[in-house]
Amino acid sequence: MPAKRTAPTASPVPAARRLRPLEGGRIALPPCDGASSLPLETCLRQRRSTRDFTPQPLTLAQLSQLLWAAQGVSGLGGLRTCPSAGAIYPLRTYVLAGAVRTAPAGLYHYDPDQHALAALWRGDKRKALAAAALGQECVEQAPLIVVLASDYRRITKELGVRARYVTHLEAGHAGQNFLLQATALGLGAIGLGRFDPDIVNSLLGLPEDEEPLYLLLAGYAPTA
Ligand SMILES: Cc1cc2nc3c(=O)[nH]c(=O)nc-3n(C[C@H](O)[C@H](O)[C@H](O)COP(=O)(O)O)c2cc1C
Repeated sequence: MPAKRTAPTASPVPAARRLRPLEGGRIALPPCDGASSLPLETCLRQRRSTRDFTPQPLTLAQLSQLLWAAQGVSGLGGLRTCPSAGAIYPLRTYVLAGAVRTAPAGLYHYDPDQHALAALWRGDKRKALAAAALGQECVEQAPLIVVLASDYRRITKELGVRARYVTHLEAGHAGQNFLLQATALGLGAIGLGRFDPDIVNSLLGLPEDEEPLYLLLAGYAPTA
């Protein structure tokens, strides 16, 4: 007897990986007012990696400023705060909100052009993400985790074998912008590269051809 065949699905990409925004889950971020007054030199001097965070939530204004610093639009034609080889912008920016006021816990996609978030799913997966980051406890504690992932499709067409290399350089630029902005806001922050990208990809339900490159954590550091 021939094996029973299941009906072909409409798309080869599993539903969970298509990342459809949740209905009614759009959050317009407050405009960035450039309110912090620390000189750049002070931010450079004061920036230190923070691995302990208090549970105090971040505000939407703080999240807005951090995202803008990392990948926000700052110039005509969609040019961003972060430089990009050929202005291709291969990074995708996801926000894993654990404790951010008025943004329920879950995963969001940041749209730099609209300066807005689109909710992708709800829930708190920080504990599982910490396990995927080789047990680094700060991942479970941080009220905010920004995940920089790469979409290599267009940049590979333009830059061929250099595509991955320049994308990784760009993630470093975006990460440093984020860390310096966190310092300017009086927040603790750290960039993490020690994690299993395949586990993180599947845990967050990212498209399979996107590679998580960098986890950027921010929150309040305990006072001594
Ligand atoms: C690309 C990159 C990846 C990193 N990954 C981790 C990490 O997974 N875990 C961690 O505790 N620190 C990580 N760090 C932070 C470094 O350990 C830290 O920058 C270094 O110890 C210097 O300390 P400072 O940042 O306070 O100046 C990373 C830093 C960079 C630049």
